[in-house]
Amino acid sequence: MAPPLPTNQAQVNTPISASDQVVVFESVSIRFNGPPVLQDVSFQIGPAETRILLGPAGVGKSVLLKLANGLLRPDSGRIFLFGQEITHMHEEALLQLRMRTGMVFQESALFDSLTVRDNVGYQLVERNLPEEEVSRRVREALQFVELGHTYDLLPASLSGGMRRRVAIARAIIDQPAFLLYDSPTGGLDPVTSHTINELVVKERDVYATPALLVTHRLQDAFTMATHHYDSEQGKMVQLPDGQIDPKTTFLVLHEGRIIFDGSTEALLASEDPFLKEFLA
Ligand SMILES: Nc1ncnc2c1ncn2[C@@H]1O[C@H](COP(=O)(O)OP(=O)(O)O)[C@@H](O)[C@H]1O
Ligand SMILES: [Mg+2]
Repeated sequence: MAPPLPTNQAQVNTPISASDQVVVFESVSIRFNGPPVLQDVSFQIGPAETRILLGPAGVGKSVLLKLANGLLRPDSGRIFLFGQEITHMHEEALLQLRMRTGMVFQESALFDSLTVRDNVGYQLVERNLPEEEVSRRVREALQFVELGHTYDLLPASLSGGMRRRVAIARAIIDQPAFLLYDSPTGGLDPVTSHTINELVVKERDVYATPALLVTHRLQDAFTMATHHYDSEQGKMVQLPDGQIDPKTTFLVLHEGRIIFDGSTEALLASEDPFLKEFLA
């Protein structure tokens, strides 16, 4: 007899420990055609936590991000999102969960033929919200990334940094309960990268949205760990007295495995030879 199709039974199977976490990976492995990309990967993301995922190019960072919101399925292990097991969840149920997440893709991934307004608002349009509400919320989201004036423009007329900010506006427009950023500063110059880091920190500190952020730029990662968003000044400033944001913690991937999971302080103090070289 064929086994029953997997349904949204996650609550039944979810261990209590997973239910108050935003994301849980339990011994997750995945391969494509070659050797395993991720092997026995386990970690959690708690409420209001920002986890920065580091690792060399091609190690599987984007794959891990796509597993976290069900865009890819693992070969083995279990994945929980918002306390529900998504490992084998039906696409329809998964879509509902994924709508509560916001994703900033590595290449911004905007629709070239749509205006900034329609790019940022498309998720709300899909949900059949009234035009006026879509317009109002697009303006708010663009305000957040300080791009109000680009409302009617096409992506082609924007710089790479502006396109990345539009992608962030699109990711946050529906007040996501979890944000995924894939190399949000990739390919950008240092000044523009600063603006993007500031937006990520602003989102973290103003809305306390839990996040998983991939970066290959250590400087960006440490900026996020050592700065906070000052609402009065309207900008990102360094935390006083060398403080480190306790909600921002690190994961490091190496050869398919998580070789570090912990605080900024612990990462900097690590004696692991690979980490020492990676951080040097
Ligand atoms: N959909 C896919 N099909 C086949 N191979 C893939 C797919 N996605 C990623 N890979 C492979 O998995 C490995 C990790 O890729 P990726 O997660 O993009 O690395 P990065 O850490 O640079 O983000 C690479 O070898 C890549 O070629
Ligand atoms: Mg990648």
